[in-house]
Amino acid sequence: MKKILVVVGGGRPNGNTNQLVNAFIRGALDAGHEVEKVSLNKFEVKGCIGCNACRYGKPCVQKDAFNDFVHKIISADCIVFASPLLFWTISSKLKAFIERFYCIAEEDSNPSYGRYEKYPVKDAALLMTSADNFFWTYEQAVSYYKFTIINYIGFNDKGMVLAGGCGDTNGRPQIDKTEHLTEAYEFGKSIY
Ligand SMILES: Cc1cc2nc3c(=O)[nH]c(=O)nc-3n(C[C@H](O)[C@H](O)[C@H](O)COP(=O)(O)O)c2cc1C
Repeated sequence: MKKILVVVGGGRPNGNTNQLVNAFIRGALDAGHEVEKVSLNKFEVKGCIGCNACRYGKPCVQKDAFNDFVHKIISADCIVFASPLLFWTISSKLKAFIERFYCIAEEDSNPSYGRYEKYPVKDAALLMTSADNFFWTYEQAVSYYKFTIINYIGFNDKGMVLAGGCGDTNGRPQIDKTEHLTEAYEFGKSIY
């Protein structure tokens, strides 16, 4: 049994992204894992302002929901990042959440090339939805995830579901007409 924290960076309450996330969660629960879902629509997390107070042993100066998320991040085995594709990348809410990982970094006396600190090692996954479904649709989002979450922060990639062709937000969610919900359920069931 693993502890999985799913962070949803926006999207409509019963929209494509929440449906995708819920399908993943059903699979993970059926496989016996413990899952917690948090929505950044409900809990505000602001971006890092780079004051560096955390580099001098002080708590983050920003008093918002992230401080309550820290123990959830530390105790999770896997963090699932979920977002609708907004202007070809992850939502600003999810980006702000990731920026705040800066305050949970630990000093690394001997960082490898291109790194400056170390982070708690976790597994990670990416769940996204979009209107378009071209071969380049997720290029920037996947590039950011791989560069930042996997290569820099150092999490282990467990995979991703990139649900293209779910319809635009000026219409009702269309993800139930695709195979992506089944894909997300199977992913949740087989992630460990
Ligand atoms: C502000 C905004 C920007 C969007 N940008 C893109 C985009 O760049 N590419 C794309 O394919 N879809 C884009 N979409 C469509 C959403 O990604 C898509 O409808 C998504 O599934 C909505 O998720 P939801 O149903 O969970 O709200 C955008 C939607 C909004 C509201």
